[in-house]
Amino acid sequence: MIKVAPSILSADAANLVADVKKVSGADYLHVDVMDGQFVPNLSFGIATVRDLAKNTKTKLDVHMMVAEPERFISDFIEAGASVIGVHVESTNHIARAIQMIKDGGIRAEVVVNPGTPLTALEDLLPMVDQVLVMSVNPGFGGQKFLPMAIDKVQRLSNLRQARGLEFDIEIDGGISEENVKDVYDAGVDIAVAGSYVFNSKDPESQVEKLKGLTK
Ligand code: DX5
Ligand code: ZN
Repeated sequence: MIKVAPSILSADAANLVADVKKVSGADYLHVDVMDGQFVPNLSFGIATVRDLAKNTKTKLDVHMMVAEPERFISDFIEAGASVIGVHVESTNHIARAIQMIKDGGIRAEVVVNPGTPLTALEDLLPMVDQVLVMSVNPGFGGQKFLPMAIDKVQRLSNLRQARGLEFDIEIDGGISEENVKDVYDAGVDIAVAGSYVFNSKDPESQVEKLKGLTK
């Protein structure tokens, strides 16, 4: 069964704790951190992670869409992140950024944009606990799923098997009941879902639906 990480980008930003309580079946909470530079939008920061961590037992999966994320990695670890994802496109020193996350004792993830080939992260695979494949261009919730992500996941899953590695594959962007089975079959372990979960009167049942379709 697929694991589900609801993205709070589509939750009510003024009532996050209440919305998070509506997805108690979630495996992670996905927190999108945007800096207005790496992506054309602003969102949550260190204080949001810190205060969410005090209010939920669900693990926080922090997706840093930030230029030179090294500047803030230790802050997010201190704030209570369980996973930190850093974009391979966001720094000249991605291996150092990943090492900083690992040294902080939490799960380290490398993230890849739709336009970036897998060759950009192949050498990093033995270092990471997770790889996040973007299935939209990052910056906004509610965008349309890019089907080319399925082939990318399949190739990544083949690489994982061929090399005997054990990282989890996560996917982010446009996930719904229409495509969750396809991405799961291609090799995805964790699906981020924002608008599909929170633009519903019953977020909990949306999480359960995604899981049920991959039983
Ligand atoms: C996009 C974010 C996603 C977003 C997903 O930049 O990284 O996590 O919240 O939202 P949906 O599921 O609506 O595409
Ligand atoms: Zn995200």
